Amino acid sequence: MEISRVGVLGAGVMGNGIAQVFAQAGYDVVMRDIEDRFVEGGMKRIEKNLNRSVEKNRFTAEEKAAVLSRIKGTTKMEDLKDMDFIIEAVIENLDIKKKVYSELEELCKKEIIFASNTSSISITQLAATTSKPDKFIGMHFFNPVPVMKLVEVIRGIATSDETTQTVVALSQKLGKTPVEVNDYPGFVSNRVLMPMINEAIYCLMEGVGTKEAIDEVMKLGMNHPMGPLALADLIGLDTCLHIMEVLYCGFGDPKYRPCPLLKKMVNAGYLGRKTSKGFYDY
Ligand code: CAA
Repeated sequence: MEISRVGVLGAGVMGNGIAQVFAQAGYDVVMRDIEDRFVEGGMKRIEKNLNRSVEKNRFTAEEKAAVLSRIKGTTKMEDLKDMDFIIEAVIENLDIKKKVYSELEELCKKEIIFASNTSSISITQLAATTSKPDKFIGMHFFNPVPVMKLVEVIRGIATSDETTQTVVALSQKLGKTPVEVNDYPGFVSNRVLMPMINEAIYCLMEGVGTKEAIDEVMKLGMNHPMGPLALADLIGLDTCLHIMEVLYCGFGDPKYRPCPLLKKMVNAGYLGRKTSKGFYDY
């Protein structure tokens, strides 16, 4: 299926990054969020990223202007009606996502493929809320989206081969490396990553080491670009907690129990970089 117009739902950290990479690859993008201030925030962030690329001579000023001109920010759902492909990156709440898909189904053409950037909600379950689960797939980007090469392509139980091939090819056109996985809690990425982050938080809670010590061990000893506590701040502590809860409920195995210190920080509103306070201050 030919894809030229792409809708991105959500202008937050992931949504604006996804809109940017699609526009850089030549697609016309409509980025929709529920309030003007979120749309404006997303557009500003894209512009800032592109300015840095111009400063580093990766783009000319004309190329930057062309990329920006391909992104239309909007709060209107109707602006997504002619899209060929829609990727959803809204808040990780099943009911909100369901509502969004049902609104889109009313509007969009019947061949449309829906992808979700969810980091942990079951693709099979999301797909089952639509009338065409064969045209539903997980397309999981990583933060910061313009930098990270991976797209985890998650097949739900009903996702068709055709849908999978389209999204694999699309990811390659974005300059990313798609990796296909099946739909189980946390997929592969967060099933492996989050228990490591959770264990690092246990180490902090139990006084095994300071936050700096824990991060330094993982950076220097395992060659990770950033330590697990700094990474948790980048991802968002609420997101980390949500993913641990999905693993814990999904497998019913106590090895996935979220660390009480993680819960305490989320309850305090210390969510990491986005609130300027997490394990570190920003
Ligand atoms: N947006 C866009 N570009 C960014 C960026 C951002 N938020 N942050 C950094 N960059 C760019 C910089 O501009 C720089 O690019 P150039 O060198 O080409 O100019 C490049 O990334 C490296 O940045 P820095 O030199 O400032 O810093 P760094 O070398 O320490 O790299 C990092 C920063 C890329 C974030 C690196 O520390 C890293 O890879 N960290 C791990 C990130 C990671 O694991 N992400 C996955 C999180 S899990 C997830 O997202 C999924 C989920 O479901 C939870």
